[in-house]
Amino acid sequence: MTAEPRSWLFVPADSERKIAKALDSDADAIIFDLEDSVAPAMKPVARDVLRNLLKRSGGPQWWVRINPLASEYHKDDLDILGIADVHGIVLPKTESGDDVRQLAHRTGNIPIHAIVTETAASLFGLLSYRDASSPLAAMSWGAEDLSAALGASSKYDTDGELAFPYQLARSLCLAGAVAAAVQPVDGVFADFKDEAGLRAEAEAARREGFTGKLAIHPAQVPVINAAFTPSKADVEHAEAIVAAFEAQPGAGVLSVHGKMVDRPHLTQAQRILDRSR
Ligand code: COA
Ligand code: MG
Repeated sequence: MTAEPRSWLFVPADSERKIAKALDSDADAIIFDLEDSVAPAMKPVARDVLRNLLKRSGGPQWWVRINPLASEYHKDDLDILGIADVHGIVLPKTESGDDVRQLAHRTGNIPIHAIVTETAASLFGLLSYRDASSPLAAMSWGAEDLSAALGASSKYDTDGELAFPYQLARSLCLAGAVAAAVQPVDGVFADFKDEAGLRAEAEAARREGFTGKLAIHPAQVPVINAAFTPSKADVEHAEAIVAAFEAQPGAGVLSVHGKMVDRPHLTQAQRILDRSR
């Protein structure tokens, strides 16, 4: 299991059937959801299911998505955090780093993964997550709630691509997470039967700098894991760059395989080698 999960699989916490399947998957992290995928009447049931999960050793990280700070369910959700092996909390609908601070005030240093683009106002707060003492570990973005909040009739343009407001949200999430020195996690690909579409989106996310992606269906997990695992060719190229700089430590710029490489390429190469370990 990687320290920074590649695949983050959501599972509605009121479904023991789905939880069993999620535990069987190769997800690096499982997010037991108490928020949008659980109907109001089922929230207490979902909390009870989580309370009864057994302790275990190894396996994926366990995260719990609680309801937003302002919701009526929030306080009861926090009560289950003492349960076995919860690695961290996923906090939806945050608008700024203040929301993370507020939660951390109640939960101490449990890692927090914030979903940072789900309201209109949230788009103006993406730089506010920088705080060296924060337990924030990851930031992801969401288009579904944002499109509802913005009054959109679709999140796609006429070519079937994500419309500009969602591309903006995605880019701001990436830059905001990197600025805060936490993991940038790409949002969900809702069409879980479209494997080729998911692969293309996940590979694009990795090229851009995301290091993981949310999943909503077990079938998405292997596709996401593969997309965020550096390929053999990537690793070999990165090794060649690192070796070239080691051979000439004083050099600012070098040629590797007939192409210019300088310091930013060395940084990228080291990151690929870190992720492949
Ligand atoms: N985790 C674990 N198991 C899941 C799963 C998930 N996220 N999604 C589906 N499964 C299971 C199903 O229960 C089914 O198992 P079964 O045949 O033993 O009943 C199997 O995988 C195949 O599922 P499929 O028939 O393809 O999909 P579905 O119609 O049952 O479910 C969704 C579709 C979207 C309702 C379901 O994938 C889901 O609940 N996803 C998570 C939603 C969520 O948490 N949203 C919040 C974040 S946006
Ligand atoms: Mg939502």
